[in-house]
This record gives sequence, structure tokens and C-alpha cells, in this order.
Amino acid sequence: KKIHYFEEVTSTNNTAKEIAASEEEGTLVIAEVQKGGRGRMGREWVSPHGGIWMSVILKPGIPLRHASRLTLIAGLAVANVIRNMGLDASIKWPNDVRINGKKVCGILTEAKAEVDRVDYVVLGIGINVNMDLKDIPESFRAGSTTLKVELGRHIKRVSFLQDLLFELEQQYINFKIRPFSHILNEWLALSDTIGREVKVTTPSRIIEGKAVGITPDGALVIKKADDTKEEIIAGRCIYAR
Ligand code: BTN
Repeated sequence: KKIHYFEEVTSTNNTAKEIAASEEEGTLVIAEVQKGGRGRMGREWVSPHGGIWMSVILKPGIPLRHASRLTLIAGLAVANVIRNMGLDASIKWPNDVRINGKKVCGILTEAKAEVDRVDYVVLGIGINVNMDLKDIPESFRAGSTTLKVELGRHIKRVSFLQDLLFELEQQYINFKIRPFSHILNEWLALSDTIGREVKVTTPSRIIEGKAVGITPDGALVIKKADDTKEEIIAGRCIYAR
């Protein structure tokens, strides 16, 4: 598989989308620094030296509504690799990987579809690896951590990346051959969202209640104060207590 390595890009997701049509599935775009790293919901993603900023091009040939499943498998892969290092990583819906309640990784999945079939998916993964907290601007620092901070030592990024690509490939193979419920169960076991009181913000409104489950498409099921349930496919989730 091809790896496109850059010292600096605007966003590896942008680069990946530019080349996706002509590249094979599994192609990786990775950069030392992103100048215009993007987070979910139009937010900025701080991407200095020391992190892993990468995008994988996938061509799964699935309906567009299933594209968010790939976000779940990416979160699972990252959480598994971090857990294998002895850290207690968990997943906060939909795609934050956290250690001790602090975010260490974010995932931004972008898909291009023709009618309802996905042409390609760009799986953008950002991991705070060898940065110190001072390398993260103050306004983003609260609620963030890095692997170096949590482990108290420098991490070899190349071997971390090898482990991650291996794990991601395993998850992707499983995704293609097994019922999605297997993957969902694994995801649920690592998620700390279900059972919590949450507040989810979407571009149009705020929903509060108890997170009681996840649908096969990765939507969060919230039970509201009036006992009705609602499914939210995308939003920003805050733990209320
Ligand atoms: C989030 O939690 O809001 C998602 C963050 C995703 C960051 C990664 S870093 C590699 C890829 N390129 C980007 O511009 N964003 C993703």
C-alpha cells in the first residue's frame, strides 16, 4: 500500500480527498504538521509536531448511511492500541478516544457518495502522541492529554503507527465479513457514554437525557425526561455528571 508522507499540509483529509479517486483503497496520507487541521462540526484541530495526523482512503462500497460505522471501527482500533500500551483508554460517543476523561484522539470521517453508494471514505485520525501540554494552545488544553503525558515517556511513533495500521486493517476485515453487531458490542465494551446523563448539541438544537444505547448506524439513543427516546446521528456530546 502507498504512503504519502509530508512534512506539512493544510489537512491530511484534504490531501486524501484530492487523490482519493485515483488511489487504491488503503492508501495513507500522513504529515508531521497540519496548518489547517479540521475537527468535527467545523472546529479547528491543533496539529503541531509530535502527533500523528493521518488519513486513510477506503473504498468499502457501502451505502452512505453506513459510513459512520467506519468512525466507530477507527475509534475501536485506536482505543485497542492505546490499551495495549497499558493505558485505560475509553471511547466517548461518537469518536473521541480518552484517557482518564481527557481526549487523546479525534476522528473525522468524510465520504463521497454517488447516489447512495460510497465512492470513497477518508478516515482522518489525529492522535496527540509526543507533545507536552504546553505544545497545545491554552484554549484547547483543558480536557486534552497526550500519550507522552499519560505514560511519562516518549513514544516511538513509527511502531505505534504500525500497530495502529495493523489493528485498523483487522477491524476493517471484520467489518466486511462479520455482522456489525459484533463490532458494536466491542465498541460498547470500551465506551463510557452509555448509562450517562448527557447533553448533545447538534447544529439545530440541544438534547438532554440519559444515553441508553447506540443504533447499528452509530446513532446515540437518548432517553429524555419525558421517557421518550431519540436517536442522534451526529453532535457534540457532553457528560452532564
Ligand atoms: C474531532 O475530534 O473533532 C476530529 C478531529 C480529527 C483530526 C484529524 S487529524 C488528521 C485528519 N486531518 C484533519 O484535518 N482532521 C483529521
